[in-house]
Amino acid sequence: MKIAERQEIFKKLLHWYDHHGRDLPWRWHPRQGVISCQVDPYSVWLSEVMLQQTTVAMASERFIEFRRRWPTIEHLAHAADEEVMAAWAGLGYYARARNLLKCAREVIEKFSGEFPQDVEDLITLPGIGPYTAAAISSIAFDRPTAAVDGNIERVLSRLFAVSEPFPKAKSVINRHAKELCPHKRAGDWNQALMDLGAMVCKPRNPKCSECPIVQECQSYQRGIQQSLPKKSKRRQRLSQQGILYVGRRRSDKAWLLEQRPRHGLLGGMWGWPGSDWDGNSTLPPPCEGDWRSVGEVSHSLTHLDLQLSVQIALLAPSATPTRGFFVPTEQFCPSRLPTLMRKTHKMADKAIAKL
Ligand code: ADE
Repeated sequence: MKIAERQEIFKKLLHWYDHHGRDLPWRWHPRQGVISCQVDPYSVWLSEVMLQQTTVAMASERFIEFRRRWPTIEHLAHAADEEVMAAWAGLGYYARARNLLKCAREVIEKFSGEFPQDVEDLITLPGIGPYTAAAISSIAFDRPTAAVDGNIERVLSRLFAVSEPFPKAKSVINRHAKELCPHKRAGDWNQALMDLGAMVCKPRNPKCSECPIVQECQSYQRGIQQSLPKKSKRRQRLSQQGILYVGRRRSDKAWLLEQRPRHGLLGGMWGWPGSDWDGNSTLPPPCEGDWRSVGEVSHSLTHLDLQLSVQIALLAPSATPTRGFFVPTEQFCPSRLPTLMRKTHKMADKAIAKL
């Protein structure tokens, strides 16, 4: 692409971003008269780690909560692990929450509390991969690094009519992203592409009539924008069966919970005792009782679709569990459980009340 064409694209897209970009809680938008190099790196990092995992709407809500409880990286680094893990509940994939804490502590110990600015240093930190390093470096420090997420992949594959299917298309798109990335306002540029992908250049029905760079879009000129990006055949997801036991002591209404093993799915999180979901779909109850089935709960984790049979029981005051602990009802807080365990509680709670 010629330099003049590139410049035309920057001008149009950044102008669009300045007027139509999303107001998100971690952004200090040009509309508010602040340029990207004044952005707080802690906020950028926190939002990017959340966005690795969840939607912008959910990340916005949690971001505000995290920033209120732990306003700086020092606060977060000194937080109790359990509190951060609990605040992460519902965001899924708890290894990220553990890496969040490790990263905060490393920034304090190895970098004197200041986030490094270069991709090469950022990438050495826990939970920061090439995309996140590029996003932080460009958004927080205005370094000219292209960050390519799913939205940007789609926008660029259409802008340059990349016809190779994924994952082959990735290297072509990354090359285009590098070539296009401007020396100034790279963070805004990356975020403008993300916003264009989320708001205009949507996966199914791109709103080409609203696109500020439609004239430069090679796939629009050929009428093939709807068929891009070309996906390769989906990898089959694994599905796994298992059991969860929701037990409640009859006398004081305490709940029988256990902490899952540190490694593995939902590692270190609290939940209902159950099978390991690694192929062992059966497991004896954690405690003697009149266990009965109340149905199945379905839940999808990163690469896995789970279907778990939910068993409930009211337990005798003398019951001695082989796994887990009784948690007094006043200390039981379902919102601190991971989504799967919360869903299961919702399902079992009504049925247990009728026993
Ligand atoms: N997705 C990942 N990072 C983002 C950001 N900074 N703005 C909007 N969407 C994003």
